[in-house]
Amino acid sequence: MLENARQNLIRILQNAHAGELAAGFAYRGHWKSLRESDEKKQIKIIETEEWLHRDNVRKWLTELGAEPRRLREAVFWTIGQSLGVLCFVSGWFLPMYFAGRLESQNILEYEEAAKYANELNMKACEREMLEMSRVEAQHEEFFSRMVAAHRLLPVTKKFFGWS
Ligand SMILES: [Fe+2]
Ligand SMILES: [Fe+2]
Repeated sequence: MLENARQNLIRILQNAHAGELAAGFAYRGHWKSLRESDEKKQIKIIETEEWLHRDNVRKWLTELGAEPRRLREAVFWTIGQSLGVLCFVSGWFLPMYFAGRLESQNILEYEEAAKYANELNMKACEREMLEMSRVEAQHEEFFSRMVAAHRLLPVTKKFFGWS
């Protein structure tokens, strides 16, 4: 049913809007904790891409006559700030691992959004959701490459399940 597709799409976009806020702050905290390097440059770029995603998601929410949910925004603001700070104290492995894991959820989230946009015959929206999903896949690729060789990976995978 179309009304269901619309509600589902709005819900995913509201979640994504808050999620991108957390991601943006977490990446900002992370690159600030690094010394000058290619890795630092890469993560700065990723931060920029998350803010673009957030703007894009906001645009489609408006189009659908909906808005971000305040409470969720506040919760994810806090998560983002905490992850950002964590980067300064925990070393790089855990924040990178969680970043990669978050990204792998985002890929699916935007794919699902694209599916609902298709049902609603919102072609431009579908295209942009698939594009964001593709960018999230690149982010995931980057983070999994970063953690691949780390000695803590096998143990952490067992606990948190991301492969
Ligand atoms: Fe994103
Ligand atoms: Fe991302």
